[in-house]
Amino acid sequence: MHNDFLVSLDKQHLIHPVSNYREHEEKGVTILHSGKGAYLTDYQGKTLLDAFSGLWCVNVGYGQDSVIKAAETQLRTLPYATGYFDFGSEPAIKLAAKLVEITPSSLQHVYFTLGGSDAVDSAIRFITNYFNALGKHSKKHFISVERGYHGSSSQGAGLTALPAFHRHFDLPQPNQHRIPCPYAYRSTENTSDESLINQSVTALKNKVKELGVDQVAAFFCEPIMGSGGVIVPPKGWLKAMQLCCNELGILFVVDEVITGFGRTGPMFASLAEQVTPDLMTMAKGLTSGYAPMGAVMMSDEVYQGLLQGCGANAPVGHGYTYSAHPVSAAIALEVIRLYEEELLANGQRLGPYFEQGLQAFRSHPLVGDARCRGLLGALELVANKDLKTPFPAQLKLAERIAKSAYQHGLIFRAFADNILGFAPALCYTEEDFDLLFQRLTRILDEIMGQPEVRLAMDKAATHCQPVVNK
Ligand SMILES: Cc1ncc(COP(=O)(O)O)c(C=O)c1O
Repeated sequence: MHNDFLVSLDKQHLIHPVSNYREHEEKGVTILHSGKGAYLTDYQGKTLLDAFSGLWCVNVGYGQDSVIKAAETQLRTLPYATGYFDFGSEPAIKLAAKLVEITPSSLQHVYFTLGGSDAVDSAIRFITNYFNALGKHSKKHFISVERGYHGSSSQGAGLTALPAFHRHFDLPQPNQHRIPCPYAYRSTENTSDESLINQSVTALKNKVKELGVDQVAAFFCEPIMGSGGVIVPPKGWLKAMQLCCNELGILFVVDEVITGFGRTGPMFASLAEQVTPDLMTMAKGLTSGYAPMGAVMMSDEVYQGLLQGCGANAPVGHGYTYSAHPVSAAIALEVIRLYEEELLANGQRLGPYFEQGLQAFRSHPLVGDARCRGLLGALELVANKDLKTPFPAQLKLAERIAKSAYQHGLIFRAFADNILGFAPALCYTEEDFDLLFQRLTRILDEIMGQPEVRLAMDKAATHCQPVVNK
């Protein structure tokens, strides 16, 4: 089908996730056609280096034959099996056991979803059910972190602490609360690791005190705030938050939808700090995006609480037709085999190379901050480096960058607040990284050469207040 015709059909019928519908109708869709390794080819035949693994998910890279084969074999054998009525399938059972083996030892039970949003939503439902089953009916409040992202479900989007997900959606709900983000670059206070950790711990304790501990059910956080701009907390932050939750007697939920499956180095970010959450959500790298699947894992204690709540003929009324889908499970098993046998090691070997390359951009006039853990990184662009002045919104810098990046054959995430997010696949080679940095240099130089951008930088040079926020 001709590109223009597809673009026109798309405008008429296809609603895109988290997009400005007006702007999308003006701009039109960019149609992707195929992928191999770290590279994508669009519908017009242009080849692009993907430095974002699709949407931080295609961790094994595109076109992995063994994954395709695993999917095909399962499709031919049994394309669907319900998990209802005590039915099941071999790949789903094996995958549940595998996940228990590779996640923190506290997690013993798995409920499969279709992605991250419904994993978070399931976690909220299970937690609510758990406390009611225990007779602790007042524990209804949830706390998350500013700039945190926990998906787009009716409840999860309220834990997501990004304004676009609340606007016109009547969120957050009255039982959803936030503490500040440990955002060193934009912090007014002492930004030593110890101080940032203490600030978060104190904020959580104060929030729980304010609400009343018998009212608070759980604290949700990501090990790194991904969609909020790849905000990397100091090492030890996640463990400190867990210990704080344990001390307060509230459930600790780690959302590893982005950070799971080798993204930050180890299989899960929680493992780097011996974190033992009560619940964990995951998706994306679980199947590397080859088929939809997510999961919520829980401790035996939480599971036993839910079990206790089952009366005679009273099931836990939570289920999806496609929970534990056998094709997704077969894909996940093969994807995990690839991580374990080669890709985790490759990602760990090249993590420092990626970090070094990213940090070198600090010398670029546009770059105020560079931050990274494993293969998850970001550059924060500012109009004045000394004062950390953001570019004015009307400049639409992110749009300019995304456009220039595409022309130069590179895909990454240009966030609206001028943070550039990177999540290269674990199959990247040194040469792929060299190309990424080469192209990124050209893009940033080109953007800096634009008269409107120069003007914004000149104006920012005359301001005198350092910009701290959020
Ligand atoms: C930390 C986190 N949680 C939840 C989600 C939602 O996942 P999904 O888009 O698969 O629904 C995302 C998606 O980016 C995420 O990054």
